[in-house]
Amino acid sequence: MKTPIIIDTDPGIDDVIAITAAIFAEELDVKLITTVGGNVGIKNTTNNAVNLVNFLGKDIPVAKGADQPLLNKLVSAAKVHGESGVGGYQFEVKENRTLLSSKHAVEELRKAILNSNEPITLVPIGPLTNIALLFKMYPEVKNNIKEIVLMGGAVKGGNRTPVAEFNMFVDPHAAKIVFDEDVKIIMCGLDVTLQTRISNDDVKKIEGYGKVGEMVSQLLSGYDSPSTAADEFAIHDLCTIIYLTRPELFAGKRATVNVVTEGDASGCTLTHYNEDGNVHVVLDVDVEEFRSEFIATFKKVHEQLGY
Ligand code: RIB
Ligand code: CA
Repeated sequence: MKTPIIIDTDPGIDDVIAITAAIFAEELDVKLITTVGGNVGIKNTTNNAVNLVNFLGKDIPVAKGADQPLLNKLVSAAKVHGESGVGGYQFEVKENRTLLSSKHAVEELRKAILNSNEPITLVPIGPLTNIALLFKMYPEVKNNIKEIVLMGGAVKGGNRTPVAEFNMFVDPHAAKIVFDEDVKIIMCGLDVTLQTRISNDDVKKIEGYGKVGEMVSQLLSGYDSPSTAADEFAIHDLCTIIYLTRPELFAGKRATVNVVTEGDASGCTLTHYNEDGNVHVVLDVDVEEFRSEFIATFKKVHEQLGY
């Protein structure tokens, strides 16, 4: 039985890699992709999502969401992902399908969740603006949400400030709304995503897997992620997908997470370990198995795509 998921995303180089892995994972059924302003502005994050789904030849609906955070002004990560959001990579248009919904992402999220026969797993891999709006406008959706598996936050450290991870820093008010909700959250923060480093050798292996391999290689050549060793890449968002397909590779602790929304520590995810917490904070991963899974995933994608 496939797990139905919805990906909320700000593509974003690591987002593109995560979305591709999700679409071809036999364990997952991607019902909808919603976009949010984050790495770059909403126009480019939405174009990148539509172009990716077209390139992969999939009929997965895309819906455009919030451009700006709830209260703060958008700060982008264009220096990491390039102004386009995907470095210098140009998607090859396989077939122009009309994939972009005319409705706002929050409306499409509500419809997809309430109409699903199986509880939906939400996979936010960008700022949480759309998810916070969804919970405030349509709280009834929580009755058909299995869990939220998100990339964001950190028990220790940060990559946008010394104490805040980018997704949480961009929209701390949205993050506070989501973490304070009575819903099960799997937090794939920097504590684990920085362990999932992919080396240039790993990328060279994938480069030979047809056009999707070329895509990964070209994307990562334009990925200036300052938080990793010179010849390694932290493909942060991919962690959520491999957590869903290979949960046994990961370990963590239950906690309550309080998001700081003001001042110099804004975006900090203060983590209080306790057995009654609604958050499972992922802390460790079998790194070698993760790397092997990354390579095997894109070999499979190439075989299924045929190009
Ligand atoms: O801190 C890493 C996160 O910020 C990832 O989701 C990356 O895509 C950026 O959005
Ligand atoms: Ca992202």
